[in-house]
Amino acid sequence: MSYKVLSIFGTRPEALKIIPILKEFERQSHITSIVCSTGQHQEMLQQVVDLFDVSLDYSLNVMMPNQSLSQLTTRLLFEVNRVIEEVKPDLVLVQGDTTTTFVGSLAAYYNQIAVAHVEAGLRTHDIYSPWPEEVNRKMTGVVSALHFAPSQDAELNLLKEGVSRKNIFLTGNTIIDTLVMALKKIKTPTHLTQLEAEFQFLDPRKKMILVTGHRRESFGQDFKNICLALRRLAQLEDVQIVFPAHLNPNVQGPVNSILAGQDNIFLLPPLGYLSFIYLMKVAHFIITDSGGVQEEASYLRRPILVTRRLTEREEALSCPEEAVVGAKVGSILAKSQKLLHDVAYYKEMSATQNPYGNGHAAEKIATEITQYFKVPYFQIYNIVRKNTL
Ligand code: UD1
Ligand code: UDP
Repeated sequence: MSYKVLSIFGTRPEALKIIPILKEFERQSHITSIVCSTGQHQEMLQQVVDLFDVSLDYSLNVMMPNQSLSQLTTRLLFEVNRVIEEVKPDLVLVQGDTTTTFVGSLAAYYNQIAVAHVEAGLRTHDIYSPWPEEVNRKMTGVVSALHFAPSQDAELNLLKEGVSRKNIFLTGNTIIDTLVMALKKIKTPTHLTQLEAEFQFLDPRKKMILVTGHRRESFGQDFKNICLALRRLAQLEDVQIVFPAHLNPNVQGPVNSILAGQDNIFLLPPLGYLSFIYLMKVAHFIITDSGGVQEEASYLRRPILVTRRLTEREEALSCPEEAVVGAKVGSILAKSQKLLHDVAYYKEMSATQNPYGNGHAAEKIATEITQYFKVPYFQIYNIVRKNTL
């Protein structure tokens, strides 16, 4: 007997975090794995899929420049529903907190198909920060049968919200699995030589600050402030800033108008995963609003400044009250200067704790899914489902 698992993802981070699970599914004879990309991030997702040699069974095309959340949600629901109706999976697997995640789980629910939610339970408890991700993640949880919590904090959040303990599995975060795979690749002489050549423009005498940014709640003045702080920071002689800018036009706009052509600032297109991880390793510190980058930084023990009001990943930071800097020019500059010039402070901020496991999350998830199909719970779930029709 083989069970069909339909994995749905659409953005770069979802792809990075689902791929190790797909690799595990390949090893399980009783799981038929079907992969659907919604195409929410056409180019940025392709980089990841190519690197890890993943084949897509469905490639939807829902991306339009600068579309509103409502447009994205409606287009996605329609398209994903068609795939679910055609595949008729036994389980739909989604990851994280994007619109693809939420809509994938909603479409599964509308078709009365069980949902497995990877990276469940992260919370800031503020529905506008991150926006719309906090609510996407919560709503996905509401319709999920299996909740894969990446950390103890996430598990606790789910328990507090009344999710039954038997449906929560503490697995670690699959990004660590992907990161471990990437670190192995980076070490090989061929990749290392390529990466060194790619970044030979960096001046080894200067401290490199790696930057990313893309959160919707920061678009407008906050994003401009972040860029203005970076421009001021780049005036320091011992600093160089590398900023691979997200393809969202709301990011590209201010980044190009405020930072293009500035000394000590290198604006790059979104980087392939190996290149980005190489830069994380050589960065003096990182300024970001990314979720995945916070997780990776905790494993790589890189100090990080988070340009957000709140983070759902406090557990990854050694001093959250110092690291979460918001989007004020003064505070980004002050904390950056401290990281550049105060050795004790730098050491303290580097002492991050990785709460996300050591790279075996995907294995645990695949095992639990196998169990789920074997044990009566799946049968019960389906019987209950049928009885309620
Ligand atoms: C999305 C997710 C966010 C996640 C982030 C990871 C939603 C609402 N947001 O944010 O949760 O943290 O991805 O990066 O699900 N674009 C391209 N090519 C690409 C990618 C984006 O051109 O490969 C442009 C398009 O103009 C698109 C815009 O970026 O309309 C915004 O993309 P979208 O996926 O809607 O939101 P993100 O800000 O990327
Ligand atoms: N990343 C990448 N290339 C880049 C920037 C980031 O491969 O140029 C990776 C990064 O290592 C992390 C993920 O993309 O794993 C984070 O994606 P993003 O910040 O877009 O989304 P979030 O994690 O905030 O949802």
